[in-house]
Amino acid sequence: MKEYKIAVLPGDGIGPEIVPEAIKVLNKVGQLFGLSFDYEEALIGGAAIDAVGEPLPEATLELCKRSDAILLGAVGGPKWDNLPVEKRPEAGALLPLRKALGLYANVRPSVVYEELANASTLKKEVVAGTDLLTIRELTGGIYFGAKYRGEDEKGEFAVDENKYYVSEIERICRLAFEVARTRRKKVTSVDKANVLETSRLWRETVTALHEREFSDIRLEHLYVDNAAMQLILRPTSFDVMVTENMFGDILTDQASVLTGSIGMLGSASIGGKVALYEPAHGSAPDIAGLGKANPLATILSGAMMLKYSFKELEAAEKIEHAVKKVLAAGYRTPDIMEKGKILVTTKQMGDLVLAAL
Ligand code: IPM
Ligand code: MN
Repeated sequence: MKEYKIAVLPGDGIGPEIVPEAIKVLNKVGQLFGLSFDYEEALIGGAAIDAVGEPLPEATLELCKRSDAILLGAVGGPKWDNLPVEKRPEAGALLPLRKALGLYANVRPSVVYEELANASTLKKEVVAGTDLLTIRELTGGIYFGAKYRGEDEKGEFAVDENKYYVSEIERICRLAFEVARTRRKKVTSVDKANVLETSRLWRETVTALHEREFSDIRLEHLYVDNAAMQLILRPTSFDVMVTENMFGDILTDQASVLTGSIGMLGSASIGGKVALYEPAHGSAPDIAGLGKANPLATILSGAMMLKYSFKELEAAEKIEHAVKKVLAAGYRTPDIMEKGKILVTTKQMGDLVLAAL
């Protein structure tokens, strides 16, 4: 029996509803594959602010560091939106957690399940067959550059510095090439090299790395504005997309629409000793507590944990397969509901995946 310690951070909004569903599924798959999980829960985000006055308590970070993986629900909500930035759940918890754990790569799949090809706002002919993996740089760039305000003869101003080291660009692009090697061998690198110096360095670095080590992979460069367009014009032509922190934040939300609902998207933040798994959607305070949240993104994040952290590929595929089975049988949470399908609650959806396992 292999044993893993998992730090569980349910957080805010729908977080405490969806995380238990993923845990149920992990436990069942654990039984089937001889894995045992030891969960320890800790506070993060608004829940932590309310309980102890800060969004990322030291005890939470300590727990994360001594765990084998982290399962996170979501953080944030209107209640904490007016706090100073370092106290807000998003900037005060999520960003420092990524930085402290060295999670420099965010991996977000956008896979269009055949059963959900009608759920997207885009035409079925356009999205069907999409299987895109976005690899977003997560601990550099404008998110972590110097931020300050000042005043000069033209008046008050604000600055967010965007800085990238060659070493940061190289390690994220190397990961993208390596992952592409296990897939369809194509990498699309997204930048704004016609305007930004960081992007020119990005393009030079990815090109040199490609020539040096990955000439078996097809490398395509797109400007970010064009990438936004191509993503919805020809999504099936993408395999692995790699980009800087800010562009990746924007493009992954856009790419989620291809799949029908952001409620279907899991994500993995990797690169350090301990990786973090969370749904790509937020805390959805508007539907919190109503049993309407789609737990599949969190369940699929659990599958990513099995794959990336524990190298249990078969167990991960078992979960993905069970999710497909439940969708094929017609069960839907409100976010992916279509006429003629069967509407279920958060907990029912979790139970259905369990039964399908
Ligand atoms: C994400 C989120 C975060 C980000 C926010 C909540 C800070 O939008 O994980 O994509 O911008 O990285
Ligand atoms: Mn985002």
